[in-house]
Amino acid sequence: MHMQLNKTDIQNRVDELAAVQAWNHNYSLPGGVETRPGTQVSHGKNLVKLERLKPLFEAIGLRGKSVLDVGCNEGFFSLHMAGEGARVLGIDIDEHRISKARYVQTLLGGGKDVRFDSLDIYSREFKALDRFDLCLCLGFIHRVPDPFSAIAALGDRADMIIFEWKALKFGPHDEAFAYFSPKPVDQADYYGTEYWLLSYAALERILQRIGFTHFHRIDDPRQRRAILVAGRKPHPLFERPDQVIHRGRLRAFLTHGKRCLRTFAGILSGRVNA
Ligand SMILES: C[S@@+](CC[C@H](N)C(=O)[O-])C[C@H]1O[C@@H](n2cnc3c(N)ncnc32)[C@H](O)[C@@H]1O
Repeated sequence: MHMQLNKTDIQNRVDELAAVQAWNHNYSLPGGVETRPGTQVSHGKNLVKLERLKPLFEAIGLRGKSVLDVGCNEGFFSLHMAGEGARVLGIDIDEHRISKARYVQTLLGGGKDVRFDSLDIYSREFKALDRFDLCLCLGFIHRVPDPFSAIAALGDRADMIIFEWKALKFGPHDEAFAYFSPKPVDQADYYGTEYWLLSYAALERILQRIGFTHFHRIDDPRQRRAILVAGRKPHPLFERPDQVIHRGRLRAFLTHGKRCLRTFAGILSGRVNA
């Protein structure tokens, strides 16, 4: 394996890869090179997401576990988990993402404990994979057109799954509810298209049909990036109370107030049917 540790070489290679496709995960590489510099605020961004997930990884205990990272993208979470002692297979349908993940692996290590493959979860090869102790499914479930068969495919591979996804900002979370995103399809990038935004109850009902009986929610109504751990077997994590991070009253008022104003302005300008 060829390892480039010279700062200029690394920066050039990062730029080359970015010219093919912009980086999603921000990595700090040797020489201070960053793949996607800038402050991360959104819960969809890798560094913020990792902070939300760390307590779960700790509670589950990654050392010695086999983990499947579905839609691993540029491999940030796969490499993190390998650093915590897990054996990880990161898969993604997009081979450019996998090329980047492999390049970062040559720089940051992870060695034999991480493998990256370009694979579609709907493929025969995916169905032929071994079973894993844990499946990580981050930022993924709103990116596939048919969540039911996607979730069933994951449920065939592991008895414990961590989901993190873009849920509804406004809407019922204890009703099994799915909202079809109005965003257009981005044919050039699987990463950029979204389909169904599921409520907690919708995801849980689907999982119940395929034998999952235990759930732990970490909800954040401020950003609506939901986290759900689902299992077929008991685990101390499932004894914990669900966590809901409530937004402050002022913030809730301002958010709803903004929506009301927009609707009102729409009615006045004749764009919205009263
Ligand atoms: C929004 S990204 C999330 C990346 C990463 N898990 C994270 O949370 O930062 C979703 C990823 O799923 C991949 N993907 C979409 N459809 C897929 C499929 N059918 N099989 C495997 N990967 C897929 C995309 O290429 C993309 O990299």
